[in-house]
Amino acid sequence: MEKDFKDLGPICDFFAPLTRVKVDGRSLVVTNRDGEFGVIDGACSHLGGPLADGRLVGDYVECPWHGWKYHRCTGAGEPGYELDATAAFSLEVAAGRLLIDMSSETARGRAPHEPDPLSRPIVREPGPMRVLGISTTNMNAELSRFSTSENLLDLALVEAGSLGAECKTIRLRDLKFRACEGYYSKSARACSWPCSITQSDPEDELREVYEGLVHWADVLILATPIRWGNASSLFYKMAERLNAIQNQVTIADRTLIRNKVASFIITGGQDNVQQVSGQMLNFFGELGFHFPQFPFIGHSRGWSAEDMEHNIAYVKHNHVLREAAQDLAARSVRLSEQILKRVEEERPVNLHGRKGRSTASYMESQREETDFDEGAGTK
Ligand code: FES
Repeated sequence: MEKDFKDLGPICDFFAPLTRVKVDGRSLVVTNRDGEFGVIDGACSHLGGPLADGRLVGDYVECPWHGWKYHRCTGAGEPGYELDATAAFSLEVAAGRLLIDMSSETARGRAPHEPDPLSRPIVREPGPMRVLGISTTNMNAELSRFSTSENLLDLALVEAGSLGAECKTIRLRDLKFRACEGYYSKSARACSWPCSITQSDPEDELREVYEGLVHWADVLILATPIRWGNASSLFYKMAERLNAIQNQVTIADRTLIRNKVASFIITGGQDNVQQVSGQMLNFFGELGFHFPQFPFIGHSRGWSAEDMEHNIAYVKHNHVLREAAQDLAARSVRLSEQILKRVEEERPVNLHGRKGRSTASYMESQREETDFDEGAGTK
């Protein structure tokens, strides 16, 4: 093939390890390692991350979004992932200038990857209503400590079970999961569904929460203690990772949470039930949840109460509070029943080929078929 050289400029412009250039409107990245130049396509083969904003690690350009690496001269993926490649080009130096041969482009590639199970279509499987409890209290599992929020959550789930729901509890403290690493703040498109941490780290156990929220539950009841006026730190650690769900609405117009109900149990020694509930309503509303009437219950001893040794006994024996937890579960389940019934009613009916056809259009199509038959017969 005939060579197609383009002048990238004087080599003194390429002293940095990575330099972004544009050729024919295309973004490329020139690398310089000890005076040896290379050039590859500037867009990562994973999700299009800007390789020029990454860094040079040996002979590999590391993408700043999720760390995929490409050989700076051949474009091949890092050892073990060679087929996950980006395009590379030949370079020449002539008269102190760097020239790229655009005709030498190598193929970009993607090794076959099994799709992550979380990315499957979201279909509510038939079966009873499903209620997921998430307890966000952070306790040492080795010690038999009593959690007021978790105790009320357990009570709520027993109530939901008595109403015919299948119930499951996730105690966040039992899961080992990484904190959000701020992909969204690099670029909205860098925050992916399923979460790139979950996809790339088999030890990350937040998958269980994603499965529960997106694919399994009809109702979420989340319980949190109040810590310094806010929800528990574990809640926030989870919430930041759930950006992978919310961000799909923003970047892909895709609502992963549909027809689901959320409600909350908030307990604390001192105060701020209203602030925590406000944050919960805001956050889970942004994810796409519906709320029952009176969507949370709260309990706190008040600002001046320092007799926390009485708090456990209070929660254990306060019938009003305990009935409130049960009623919250019942309200949530009832709303979910209504939503699921409506969804069922709105499900398109299979009319065996007649769906969407008005009588007039049906008659018209029949006429066309008849005309065709008649025409075919006259020739
Ligand atoms: S590693 Fe480059 S976009 Fe994900």
